[in-house]
Amino acid sequence: MRPPSSPAFSDNLLTRLAGAGRVAVLTGAGISAESGVPTFRGDEGIWKKFRPEELANVNAFMRNPELVWEWYKHRKTLMATVQPNPGHAALAAMESHHAQVTVITQNIDDLHRRAGSHNVLELHGNINRNYCIACGTSVSNEDILRQEAAPRCPACRGLVRPDVVWFGELLPVDIWDESVRAAERAEVFFAIGTSAVVHPAASLPGIAKKAGAYLVEVNIEDTELSWHADEVLIGKAGDILPRLLNSYVSLSH
Ligand code: OAD
Repeated sequence: MRPPSSPAFSDNLLTRLAGAGRVAVLTGAGISAESGVPTFRGDEGIWKKFRPEELANVNAFMRNPELVWEWYKHRKTLMATVQPNPGHAALAAMESHHAQVTVITQNIDDLHRRAGSHNVLELHGNINRNYCIACGTSVSNEDILRQEAAPRCPACRGLVRPDVVWFGELLPVDIWDESVRAAERAEVFFAIGTSAVVHPAASLPGIAKKAGAYLVEVNIEDTELSWHADEVLIGKAGDILPRLLNSYVSLSH
């Protein structure tokens, strides 16, 4: 019997991919797990050890910016040491085989761009960016990491925050609109390494499918999305995506 980590790919999926002009992908923490970035949920997930409401919302930040910054400085330092993995690389390489590949990510780790993807929509922000909540000035990571406690704006001394979306905050409207457009236009839509429980990101696979996309999930286990997917590929993204790419690229030659 074939081990679950190396599923065969259906002819239907390979043929669709070989002929697809527009592909869109929604990624979550799972695609970066093999790079050493912890996921949020599950046994090893961050939210098992820390409560999101203490660290990832604006009230927590206003109440105790030092605590929230301690956590984000820790994550910035971790993310500066990690590298894109073969899953990120395979998504970047897909750009050579389709007219348009849109990577919509919930991750803030910048690994898609670092892997070479050009069309990345960051729904939840980017940990490498920071801005002053008083005057909006951008503040570099070097500035942030140099300062003790909660960093202050060099221009107005206001509090600086990481440019990430916290619980209870709206997603950046233009990026959300573009993500919906990409989902609606996709011929094949992938949901990769996401538990698909955090909305509105989790509604994108449904939007894509309703508009006619072939919906493919890649995850190490079933999720709430699996029932709705046309295909579920169980295994690690860093294993499945490069093999999938090789399989349909060789088919189209
Ligand atoms: P989760 O931690 O909720 O889910 C990670 C998913 O990745 C799970 O379904 C795992 O089974 C799967 N997974 C783990 N390792 C994998 C691998 N090597 N290959 C493929 N899949 C793997 O992370 P997200 O769905 O990204 O939001 O969470 C969504 C949002 O919740 C995050 O963006 C964050 C969090 O609170 C904010 O901070 C606003």
